Amino acid sequence: MRAWSRSGWRAKPRVQMPDWPDPAQLAEVEARLARFPPLVFAGEARTLTRALGQAAEGQAFLLQGGDCAESFAEFTADTIRDTFRVLLQMAVVLTYGAKVPVIKVGRMAGQFAKPRSSPVEVVGGVELPSYRGDIINGFEFTPAARVPDPARMLQAYTQAAATLNLLRAFSSGGFAELHRVHAWTLGFAEGEKAARYRALSDRISDALDFMSAAGINAASSHTLRTVDFYTSHEALLLEYEEALCRIDSTTGLPVAGSGHMLWIGDRTRQPDGAHVEFCRGVQNPIGLKCGPTLTTDDLKALVERLNPDNVAGRLTLIARFGAGKAADHLPRLIRAVRDAGANVLWVCDPMHGNTVKAASGYKTRPFEAVLREVHEFFAVHEAEGTIPGGVHFEMTGQDVTECTGGVRAVTDENLADRYHTACDPRLNASQALELAFLVAEELTRRRRGLAARAMG
Ligand code: PEP
Ligand code: CO
Repeated sequence: MRAWSRSGWRAKPRVQMPDWPDPAQLAEVEARLARFPPLVFAGEARTLTRALGQAAEGQAFLLQGGDCAESFAEFTADTIRDTFRVLLQMAVVLTYGAKVPVIKVGRMAGQFAKPRSSPVEVVGGVELPSYRGDIINGFEFTPAARVPDPARMLQAYTQAAATLNLLRAFSSGGFAELHRVHAWTLGFAEGEKAARYRALSDRISDALDFMSAAGINAASSHTLRTVDFYTSHEALLLEYEEALCRIDSTTGLPVAGSGHMLWIGDRTRQPDGAHVEFCRGVQNPIGLKCGPTLTTDDLKALVERLNPDNVAGRLTLIARFGAGKAADHLPRLIRAVRDAGANVLWVCDPMHGNTVKAASGYKTRPFEAVLREVHEFFAVHEAEGTIPGGVHFEMTGQDVTECTGGVRAVTDENLADRYHTACDPRLNASQALELAFLVAEELTRRRRGLAARAMG
């Protein structure tokens, strides 16, 4: 690898990062953060890389999900628990459909910084700098709130540490027990409108009953009582990432200590830019958002730069084109990667290409469009003979009204009821679980198709 240092990104062109008004205060915060313990251990990042490598071969499936932007105001045990719970429920349904382990990765414990389409926001004729996430400035529409404040990085670190602590407790303390997780899902499938999901949910119940009868239950099996759960966020705020970067004592290699997996956003993926420069040097698994403007040449350069040794599981390509557009872009990108012999994991983010403005003025995403993009993603991979290895959602365990549609239909008129997101509209608990059922159906179809082809 070309020489790399944790601060090397500072010499590269940067976009989407704040102009800090007080450099002395910034330096002081960076120095403090650099002395704090990392949030994750390098061995965990390596384990996740290996698991993602399995997903790239179709031997596992990635479920990545959580808030668009975590917020200081919504930081409570209940919101963490509820999002974690829905992710576990989704994972059970997807495991049943895919018949391979589901790798669970939260957009949690560090997902604070946001790229914005405009540097300014105008409300009622007043123009202010845009909100860039709670780790940078405040959501409130006042001049004072919108000034970037380095002290927010310390609060974000504390919130991430406490969130991860609770997630670790839930993962190993009995909360994640498989029968218990499935029992929550039964409640959803019993709903009148969710009848089409009952058959699948009953089959999962049967499988669990059979296992219990055979003596495999929570008391006898550690695997049924615990889950491996990982954290991830967009590596946008590079001062924060640099300050938490550590040298792994086992390998002597740098590791980002801010979360298990980092991704590079669709607006910050310039091959010679600061974000790619930082991410190429840390050994964590890296995600790369792939939107309609990504050229084939840039993708080739990025794959080479981010994964020069072609390590399985190191690079996850997160396709986010929008419903109706996947077929225009995904095939050329899949072929470019395949022609280069690059080992990557392809996953689908059906959220970021499907944001629309409702008549009511709210930013929303129609459930049908989200689902359609998932179908298109699977169809393209089917046609190309490549592997659809996972999904990436913006979702919450709360009963919000931010995306329209789903079995408990949210309408345009409902959006105002419980629209709480600090940034993009999220699937609510019911919509997220419904989507997991629909993806499971897709995975089952794919599995049967492959089996039939192997027989024929
Ligand atoms: C996001 O994941 O919240 C995001 C901003 O995505 P993208 O970079 O794909 O637009
Ligand atoms: Co978002």
